Amino acid sequence: MNQIGQNDADCRLGEARKPIEPCSIVIFGASGDLTARKLIPALYHLHKEKQMPAEYRVIGFARREKTDDSWRQELRQALDQFSRTKPVDEKVWQEFSKHIFYCLGDMTDAEAYKKLEKQLRSFGSEAIRNNILFYLATMPSQFGEVVENVEKAGMLGKNGEKGWQRIVVEKPFGHDLASAHQLNAELTRYAREQQVFRIDHYLGKETVQNILMFRFSNSIFERLWNRESIDHMQITVSEKLGVGSRGGYYEEAGALRDMVQNHMLQVLSLVAMEPPVSLDAEPIRDEKVKLLKSIRPLRPEDVAKQVVRGQYFAGAIDGEQRPGYRQEPKVKPDSDVETYVALKLFIDNWRWSGVPFYLRTGKNLPASASEVRIQFRPTPHVLFAAQCGHHLDPNSLTLRLQPNEGITLHFNGKVPGTSLEVRPVRMHFSYDSEFGAYTPEAYERLLLEAMLGDATLFIRRDEVETAWQIVDSIRKAWDGKPLSNREFYAAGTWGPVAADDLLAQNGHAWREPVVVK
Ligand code: BG6
Repeated sequence: MNQIGQNDADCRLGEARKPIEPCSIVIFGASGDLTARKLIPALYHLHKEKQMPAEYRVIGFARREKTDDSWRQELRQALDQFSRTKPVDEKVWQEFSKHIFYCLGDMTDAEAYKKLEKQLRSFGSEAIRNNILFYLATMPSQFGEVVENVEKAGMLGKNGEKGWQRIVVEKPFGHDLASAHQLNAELTRYAREQQVFRIDHYLGKETVQNILMFRFSNSIFERLWNRESIDHMQITVSEKLGVGSRGGYYEEAGALRDMVQNHMLQVLSLVAMEPPVSLDAEPIRDEKVKLLKSIRPLRPEDVAKQVVRGQYFAGAIDGEQRPGYRQEPKVKPDSDVETYVALKLFIDNWRWSGVPFYLRTGKNLPASASEVRIQFRPTPHVLFAAQCGHHLDPNSLTLRLQPNEGITLHFNGKVPGTSLEVRPVRMHFSYDSEFGAYTPEAYERLLLEAMLGDATLFIRRDEVETAWQIVDSIRKAWDGKPLSNREFYAAGTWGPVAADDLLAQNGHAWREPVVVK
């Protein structure tokens, strides 16, 4: 597609934003995987891209015996492994590592928080002593205790008297509505909701953020974005990887809790929500919640008709043999946990009445791809039916979230020549070729936004709870029902046959993710 260079029409939405204030980032659970794999690489890149505030420090808080230096060395090795840019720039690392410190302490010990508070006060400017981002890279069961201890040690002000203090938390936000409710109550006992930043890393992905920009800055598409023109939508998040070493966690979660409750419902709410009154956090989140609340509730009899679960058994992907889910480490040999789920949802509002939204996600599928396919209604009449048959491929638009990020419009074109042959063709926009291969990691954007205090890309309490209501109604219908034969699929296939039937009932079929080279 032809490139249109930067010009007056470029609208730089972020330019009016204030710079990030100097701050401290305190990571609880600093010895864990998330810190090494995601947080430190993200902070390193923000530093490298000169996006960090003029003055900042990162303090890791954990139980293992370490010094500032030994932790730095450990992180340096992790960076070699997990950095998105390689090799690691030694000069940048040397600079960056001077901002990193370690605080030895047990999260259950109130005294350790006093030590942390002392360390925070012991050096640095007034601003970095007061502006603090507390990143809870811990188990959710520890959130309440950590926040309480932070508050009791005098590090958390509710009313912004001294600088700002924010709390960043990771999913899972509970395992059902009741536990999410409790978790939220624990988090907000000592902090205001506005201080809590709940991460869904999908919202940090460029292409997910682009859904709103695409919809609301292009009149040609938005005027078709309704039941009059759209036949149905398909949201696919497929993964080639199996559960691997995460069997223990997965046995508690399953695909519905792991992917649908958060990432998939987030993507759905962005593609289907009404225009917000502004691009500020609250108006956007209000519309997302409104959308989630408009999803038609699923009664147990609806779940049987509208939701398909599946579990992989042994199979091969690209010639590589994969074990079945029940053979994975830490998985019960008779487990009924789903590794695949497909849903047909309806949104009961004026825009979407009667339009099916199909969502599917699964592990050990033939391709790793996340995309939204918007399938338009067919033409009212096929003019070329005598020559080409009665079926014409309807137009569709694919928003490719990952990989090969881009947007593809499918339409029909005449095959050159004397015969009258019509064939589906496509027009493709690729992020890489248009903007170069700059793809920051989701965590870079999310950390930046949390430091800025912009909550747009974070999940509000009512969003989490509304999403759980949807998921709970499905789980309730599944409870105590073992998987049937039709609910298994071989690793390397597109899920159980029942998922095809789900669409076939409405004359639809899953479209395989578009691979554009
Ligand atoms: C995580 C899930 O939240 O998202 C994983 O726990 C899943 O099971 C992952 O693999 C997918 O994220 P991405 O960014 O690879 O699409």
